[in-house]
Amino acid sequence: MSRATIRRVTTLLPFNPSLLAPGASGAPFRPAVPLAALPAGAMCRVSFGDHDILVAHTDLGICAVDDRCPHMAAPLSIGGLEGCVVACPLHSGRFDLASGDVVQMPTTGGLRPDGTYEPVWAPPGREPKEDPPGLKAEARRLTRIRRFRYYPVRVSNGVIEVAAPA
Ligand code: FES
Repeated sequence: MSRATIRRVTTLLPFNPSLLAPGASGAPFRPAVPLAALPAGAMCRVSFGDHDILVAHTDLGICAVDDRCPHMAAPLSIGGLEGCVVACPLHSGRFDLASGDVVQMPTTGGLRPDGTYEPVWAPPGREPKEDPPGLKAEARRLTRIRRFRYYPVRVSNGVIEVAAPA
């Protein structure tokens, strides 16, 4: 069998161009991680200087976003990935990397990307706990989940490359 015949096609997760990360337009592609080191279902952090990027191999393709939870910036790279859904280790928020949708609100509650308010998490059948008055509770209530911002990705010579600003 020829080399060309056994070459695998790597799928890249398409994203809405309006969600391109700031500074990514025209940024050079930088080597991030060998493709063989990131099988489907895996994700990792790649740092360019002080810029941390999450590279995830979802079941719909590879994508790169900031390695910061869209809720309160925890590193998603140490969370979990199931299909296209990444789970944050801090407040159990779950986010769809394909659509950008919130799959599960963080336990703290707060604002969805569209501004809709969600109360603090409560076990099924129980009323949500009353938020104590004070600045911390207000900060939780007013924290709005951001939308993912995407970095273009390509695979070149077996290496996943990310277009990230310097
Ligand atoms: S920081 Fe990720 S869910 Fe809160």
